Order: sequence, then C-alpha cells, then structure tokens
Amino acid sequence: MPALVLLGAQWGDEGKGKATDLLGGSVDYVVRYQGGNNAGHTVVVGDQKYALHLLPSGILSPECTPVIGNGVVVDPSVLFSELNGLNERGVDTSKLLISGNAHIITPYNVTVDKVTERFLGKRKIGTTGRGIGPTYADKINRVGIRIQDLYDESILTQKVEAALDGKNQLLTKVFNRRAIEAGKVVEELLSYADRLKPYVADTVLVLNRALEDDKVVLFEGGQGTLLDIDHGTYPFVTSSNPTAGGACTGTGVGPTKISRVIGILKAYTTRVGSGPFPTELFDEDGEALRRIGGERGVTTGRDRRCGWFDAVIARYATRVNGLTDFFLTKLDVLTGWEQIPVCVAYEIDGKRVEELPYSQTDFHHAKPIYEILPGWSEDITSAKSFSDLPKNAQNYVKALEEMSGAPISAIGVGPGRDETIEINSFL
Ligand code: IMP
Repeated sequence: MPALVLLGAQWGDEGKGKATDLLGGSVDYVVRYQGGNNAGHTVVVGDQKYALHLLPSGILSPECTPVIGNGVVVDPSVLFSELNGLNERGVDTSKLLISGNAHIITPYNVTVDKVTERFLGKRKIGTTGRGIGPTYADKINRVGIRIQDLYDESILTQKVEAALDGKNQLLTKVFNRRAIEAGKVVEELLSYADRLKPYVADTVLVLNRALEDDKVVLFEGGQGTLLDIDHGTYPFVTSSNPTAGGACTGTGVGPTKISRVIGILKAYTTRVGSGPFPTELFDEDGEALRRIGGERGVTTGRDRRCGWFDAVIARYATRVNGLTDFFLTKLDVLTGWEQIPVCVAYEIDGKRVEELPYSQTDFHHAKPIYEILPGWSEDITSAKSFSDLPKNAQNYVKALEEMSGAPISAIGVGPGRDETIEINSFL
C-alpha cells in the first residue's frame, strides 16, 4: 500500500525537507498533517536553496500535489508570502490543496503566544512565537476559526467575537494590553478569502480516493517525536502530534492505509527552545557541530542546541511511531572527529536506565552513558553507496542501526538533492 509517513525522530530539524524532496519525484501527494509555520525545511534543488515553513516540500516537484491537511494550523499571510516567494522564482504552486477544516492562526493567536511567553519569564517554552499553541488551544476549546468560516461572514463574525470575549479580558486585565477589535480581525480574515478559495478542498475525500486509485501519498511531519504534545518532553513541546498517529487524525486517512513509517534521524542531536536534552554539549564540540552542521533555525534564526547522538531517544521514536525505517541525515557533519561518543543509556539517580523514563523529573536528571566509536577523516560527500563510506563511518551507521531498533534505509552525506545513499528503496 503506497501511503508513507515521514517524520522527525528527535526534536525536529533532522533534515526532513531533503528526505521528502528526495521522494517528491516519485510520489503523487505530499501532505502536511500538523503544525504550521513553526516548521522549517531547507530544500536544495540544483544550485537553488528553498526555505519552506508552512508548505509541504512536495510543492517543488511539478508532478506532485501538495496538501495542507485538517490537522495543520494556517496563517494566511504567511501562506501568501511563501507562495509569492516561490512564484517569483518560477515555481508553479497552483496544485496546492488546503483542507477547509484546517484552523486559521489569527492575529490575536500570535499576540497571545508572544505575551504568554513574556509572562512566563524564565519558565518560558521558547516557542517560535507564531501563534501555534494558542491556535490549537482555541481548536480544543471549540472557539477556533476554520478556513471554511471565511466563506460565511455572519458565522465568522460570531466566532471571532466569541473567541475574543475571553481573550480581551485576559489581555486587558492580566497582560495589561489593549483589547483587540473583532471587526478589524474579521476584515483582515475576509481579505484572504478570495485568494484562498481555489485551494480549498475536501482533502479527506481527495486523499482517500487517491489511495483507492493506488496513488502514492506521503505524509510529512513537522517538528519531531520528542516535541509531540502527548509523547514528547511535555511541557517543552509543540501543541500538535508530529508522531505517526497524527498523520491519521490530521488528514482523515485511517491507520490501515499506512504501509511505511520513516523516521528522520540526525547523526547527532539538536534542539531549539527550552527543555531537557541529556546529550547537550556546552564545549567546543557542541560549537563545532553547530558551525559545521549549520545548526541555526530556518524559521526563527535561533542557534540550535547541539549534542551527541542519543540512542535512547531513537529507540523511543521507533516504538511510539512504529517506525519501519530510518533516514540518517548529516553523517558528513561528523567527518573529522577522531572519536565519536554515542549515548547508549542514561544514569538516573545512580541507576543505569536503558529506556526513556516516563517521569519528567527522572528525564531532567538523566545523565548520558556514552560508548565511544572511532571516527573517520575522509570526505564522504561523494559516496554513492554504503561501501563507498570509510570503514569507521560504516561501523558508526551499523552501530546506530543496532541501537535504534529499525533499519537505516538511506543516509544523507551532504545537503544537495543527490548527496544521499539509498540502501533500501522507500517505495
Ligand atoms: P511552538 O511550536 O512555536 O509552540 O514551539 C514549541 C516548541 O517547539 C519550542 O521549543 C520550539 O523551539 C519547538 N519547535 C517548534 N517548531 C520546531 C521545528 O520545526 N524544529 C524544532 N523545534 C521546533
């Protein structure tokens, strides 16, 4: 069955854009199922580099239909500026489909995100400030605004008023901010309606029909497993489900239709924002990983926190997502280290722990137990097959595979589209 899920196996930024784009040429639909413009994919096509935040990576493949599913939150102004940017560079975006049930990130959701973070002070989550959490909160509170609401002015006005009633109390009385006028918000939202209209579709029907017709559908996760609202390092997480189950709820495609779940795994670990990160490095190795790996957020421009590979997390990702394969990225970044530590277990309060602890307190106390693997110095960016890799790089990959619990079916050895070693085909 040709439905695949591609998702981040760590804290996001594993290089998913490259992986999705690699498959983009052979898939018919690329679907985002959660998150919004808090994601950031860099896709390199020839000598062109594209930074995508909200749009599915498949937008760059002319034969592919990109879909924004019902589980995504959409900021229309960001959507349009991303579309404009691509159109100016000659990319045809007319095939895009957006679920009428997707929720809209309204200007007041962005305001609430920013004031809440400021209010939390040193306890802040370190959000991207794009209004993601407050938009999902409105959705769960049943005061969200959906794309389809733009086509009924009376309903839209009632819903915006209902959403703002409580928020204005909070903004003026707790956060000491000015109240937001419902009329102005409605006016802004209505100004997006005409341009959005051609893209709006019943994407549940479209995707299920496509699968019945044996089309290849790729579900593209934003963020990563450890940022999942249910399975991540709560509360330092995003407000949606990047894990595999999110692909079903966020698109209306049932789990029996999904044949393959591919976890994107960086050869080391990074994280943006606050929260626990056992293998984080605060020395020159961490600085070198950041510099060589270009570890700066595509979306926020923030430096990423960097550390060694953590096999405990990879095993956890295999379990909670039911991973069938891994795509190991950025192996080339590790070239030049004489020895490479890999975290195989944690020490928590003097005890060796092999699996991710469910207790937040325990995880905050976890100290990495490292196994040291020998490094390599040869340039690997032109390697085309596994056997082209230096022996120590091969052994590093094999060790990671053994520790992580699923086969590594592809390896990224450079940022370019063709700088990938395919071991097992994903299709
Ligand atoms: P939010 O998604 O903006 O609410 O931010 C919640 C947490 O998720 C913060 O720690 C962010 O830094 C993190 N986050 C959100 N999107 C990404 C991403 O695409 N990559 C890595 N971290 C992310």
